[in-house]
Amino acid sequence: MATTSSSPVLLAVVLLATMAVLFSPALSAPVYGDEDALSSCPPLHDIVRSTVRAALRQETALAAGLLRIFFHDCFPNGCDASILLLRPRGGAAAETSLGPNLTIQRRAMQLIEDIRAEVHFACGPTFSCADITALATRAAVVASGGPSYALPKGQLDSFFPAPQEAVFQLPDPSTASVATLLRAFASRGLGDPGDLVALSGGHTIGRTRCRFFADRSARMEDTFSRKLAANCSKYPDRLQNLDVVTPDLFDNGFFKALTYNQGVFTSDMALVKDRTTKQATTGGLRTRHG
Ligand SMILES: *[C@@H]1O[C@H](CO)[C@@H](O)[C@H](O)[C@H]1NC(C)=O
Ligand SMILES: *[C@@H]1O[C@H](CO)[C@@H](O)[C@H](O)[C@H]1NC(C)=O
Repeated sequence: MATTSSSPVLLAVVLLATMAVLFSPALSAPVYGDEDALSSCPPLHDIVRSTVRAALRQETALAAGLLRIFFHDCFPNGCDASILLLRPRGGAAAETSLGPNLTIQRRAMQLIEDIRAEVHFACGPTFSCADITALATRAAVVASGGPSYALPKGQLDSFFPAPQEAVFQLPDPSTASVATLLRAFASRGLGDPGDLVALSGGHTIGRTRCRFFADRSARMEDTFSRKLAANCSKYPDRLQNLDVVTPDLFDNGFFKALTYNQGVFTSDMALVKDRTTKQATTGGLRTRHG
């Protein structure tokens, strides 16, 4: 697939849609597509849309929580909902008990469970947890002003958590170098710098905590990092928006902020500084993959 776009964030949704296929489809089997879903469960989309919208009205940050769950589920071992297993069989460690655990929103996990229960009540157990997770994530992207996208055919759930070493391959969200991030994405078939830039665009609705950008705020090298430091010393438990231009919108504000040197994570700022990713980040994006 060849894509030319001036909008990395639009490519982000293309990648979200294909992530399930790209990321180790070993456990998944084609079961049904979007159109079949409607005939097997007519209220499906209404249930997903209205539940997600109602939840986001209560707490906007749930949109980022869903996006993060989707990514953290898909990256280690395919989109198999294994991240949702809190007490896996045989005493294996839950994925949420490993390294990246603190960034997984329990309330967003509960939202997926609420939707699953409603869909199963209405239509029987026709949809897997992996399907519900993908549908809920898409609904959150759309509710945040992003475009809709087609989802691949139904996914099967795993009964087991992803291998620990695969979970630990999730890239460090805040301090990893561009080279490390590129290697991590290439290991999952996303080898083009444009892929890394586009998926980083998910930060357009992201939030984080002070400790994850302490390396940037501690340097106090510019007005923005001094502001971050001042806010964190005043309110250490605050949630910091990753897109300071349009925090709640799935749009290009995150990339604009980077060009103003107002990216929060060191790893996001690195995208505009590194020669490999600079062009894709600042527009005129050209990428080939697939
Ligand atoms: C998260 O994982 C670390 C080990 O990687 C562990 O020490 C910590 O207790 C875990 N935290 C939670 C909330 O599960
Ligand atoms: C610091 O906090 C103020 C008040 O909550 C907020 O308006 C501002 O955007 C914050 N600064 C940054 C860099 O996010």
